Amino acid sequence: MNIAVIGTGYVGLVSGTCFADSGNEVACVDIDEDKVVELRDGQIPIYEPGLKSIFKRSQKEGRLTFTTDMETAVQDADIVFLCLPTPPGGDGQADLSAVMQVAGELGGMLNGYTVVVDKSTVPVGTGDRVESAIGTQLDKNKFDVVSNPEFLREGAAVEDFMYPERVVVGTESERAAEIMRTLYEPFVRSGNPIIVMDRPSAEITKYAANSMLATKISFMNEIANICERVGANVDHVRRGIGTDSRIGPRFLFAGIGYGGSCFPKDVQAIHYTAGQHGYDFKILDSVMKVNEMQKVSIVAKMEEYFGTDDFSGKTFGLWGLSFKPETDDIREAPALYIADELVKRGANLVGYDPEAISTFRQATTEEVKENMKFVHSQKDALKDIDALLICTEWNEFRRPTVDRFQDHMNQPVIFDGRNLYDLDRAQKAGITYISVGRSPVNVERNKLDEA
Ligand SMILES: NC(=O)c1ccc[n+]([C@@H]2O[C@H](COP(=O)([O-])OP(=O)(O)OC[C@H]3O[C@@H](n4cnc5c(N)ncnc54)[C@H](O)[C@@H]3O)[C@@H](O)[C@H]2O)c1
Repeated sequence: MNIAVIGTGYVGLVSGTCFADSGNEVACVDIDEDKVVELRDGQIPIYEPGLKSIFKRSQKEGRLTFTTDMETAVQDADIVFLCLPTPPGGDGQADLSAVMQVAGELGGMLNGYTVVVDKSTVPVGTGDRVESAIGTQLDKNKFDVVSNPEFLREGAAVEDFMYPERVVVGTESERAAEIMRTLYEPFVRSGNPIIVMDRPSAEITKYAANSMLATKISFMNEIANICERVGANVDHVRRGIGTDSRIGPRFLFAGIGYGGSCFPKDVQAIHYTAGQHGYDFKILDSVMKVNEMQKVSIVAKMEEYFGTDDFSGKTFGLWGLSFKPETDDIREAPALYIADELVKRGANLVGYDPEAISTFRQATTEEVKENMKFVHSQKDALKDIDALLICTEWNEFRRPTVDRFQDHMNQPVIFDGRNLYDLDRAQKAGITYISVGRSPVNVERNKLDEA
């Protein structure tokens, strides 16, 4: 098939590359000229495991091309995918300006019957708006608008796209549904379902999935907060409930909250949609509040440990800047908020991340930039620091190459926002170790009580 993908970001680039890998001719469009030049030159602007090899292969074989010229890209397309950003606008509602702008232009550009697929995460009813916008310039039987929400996870995007647990297709048109089934069949050969439903249900499905996952995270973080107060261990509780098949073991890890380009904005957006329809989505209200608190809970623990909220003269190391491992995406990353709070309290920072240093540097505040040094190894981030903070659970932090923290740091104090280490080992290693939902290790009790 001939496919045009409009918007070549995390979703567009991964989708376009994977569709090309399965034999389709794919033209990826973006308004960012520099990005298009880079991609044509064979450079991938994001870090995503496994993407490079399939990208190179499809590009070499001419099945994957990049352009800023939307009209040329879409005129012979059987399917046009909209993979455009839908960032939070005012009041938490999704900003649909990019989607609607492109929809407004498409009607005058399409040739022959075309399926226009909304892959962006959009509020219910957006498919209708896109259909009306295209319909002002194009006969209704020359196109169908389909909702096909994307469930890939950054950091495992290629794997998720190639082997989706399900494909959701929202359309009432049998013709469009058949084209979508043909496109996706190579990706679900192991039998995972292509679920065809009406368009509004497909639009809601994406928000329901992300809200449910965010709810699980905030719920476990609240359980962790109780564990800290009563001397229980959230890891034991997690195993205790995760073995219940009704609950399941995944997404039950306590930590310093969810971030990224999706959960925060999607929870806000469906909360807003509910409000627009006269419904108060109370659970999500709490999910958001818990997450706001949890993101900076580690700073409160530091204040408690050091007995002050003035960190002048102190230097802290930060391991992990991306919002989760295996990505360079820092959108809504807890590390951004934590760095900001620490610098406001007078601290100097040393940051290390395997992939996200440059994206973090671009996104952080001037004040943080002035007080934060970036280094390129875990070890260098430990030199002469007063405490280490672990913000992202990159694999390399689980078994760090440093032999002994005390050989590098002023004092071996770790605040772990991702519960990477075993409490007994930390105890034996003589490390002061403060994590989430578990008792602090090697902390003089009176030090915390005095504070
Ligand atoms: N990132 C994820 O993990 C993920 C997962 C599932 C769904 N989604 C959803 O997919 C959508 C895209 O997300 P993303 O993370 O890929 O965004 P992104 O910001 O990484 O990429 C969007 C791209 O669109 C381009 N663009 C903006 N306006 C344009 C226009 N008018 N014409 C052409 N190109 C334009 C931008 O330059 C950018 O390259 C969002 O709705 C998001 O919620 C994202």
